[in-house]
Amino acid sequence: MATREVRIMGDEILTKQCKPVTKMTLRTKILIEDMLDTMYEKCGVGLAAPQVGVLKQIVVIDVGEGPIVLINPEIIEASGEQTGEEGCLSLPGKWGIVTRPNYVKVRALNENMEEFEIEGEGLLARAFCHEIDHLSGRMYVTKVEDGIHDVKEEEDEE
Ligand code: NI
Repeated sequence: MATREVRIMGDEILTKQCKPVTKMTLRTKILIEDMLDTMYEKCGVGLAAPQVGVLKQIVVIDVGEGPIVLINPEIIEASGEQTGEEGCLSLPGKWGIVTRPNYVKVRALNENMEEFEIEGEGLLARAFCHEIDHLSGRMYVTKVEDGIHDVKEEEDEE
């Protein structure tokens, strides 16, 4: 198990466009393993390669149904709407309200560079949108509807 340092908002790498993966290499396989380890260690539901300092179009997600690896992902269908809380490992201790599609279909490559399609609803659809946004240098904070909230602050109010 190897984890990597998660870049925090303010780091310029989080604002950059990621490059597509053109072939699977040992280096990229190790990166994917490390991204999964890092996501699980930080108890996140998703992580994008730029968050560990690599400008490649790779995303890992696990919303509690097992790991999903997406290489060069693109959203090919989206419908419906959901409004709810969102957070990010690159902005620890914070959350905000974001509206996303409630259903999303993604086309991507798997770790064997084979194309596949995957559908998600609810939290999974939200995770697809959030993580794929990272690959274009977009953070959820640009989409929040009621500002960024402090997790600790909310607990104190109770
Ligand atoms: Ni994020």
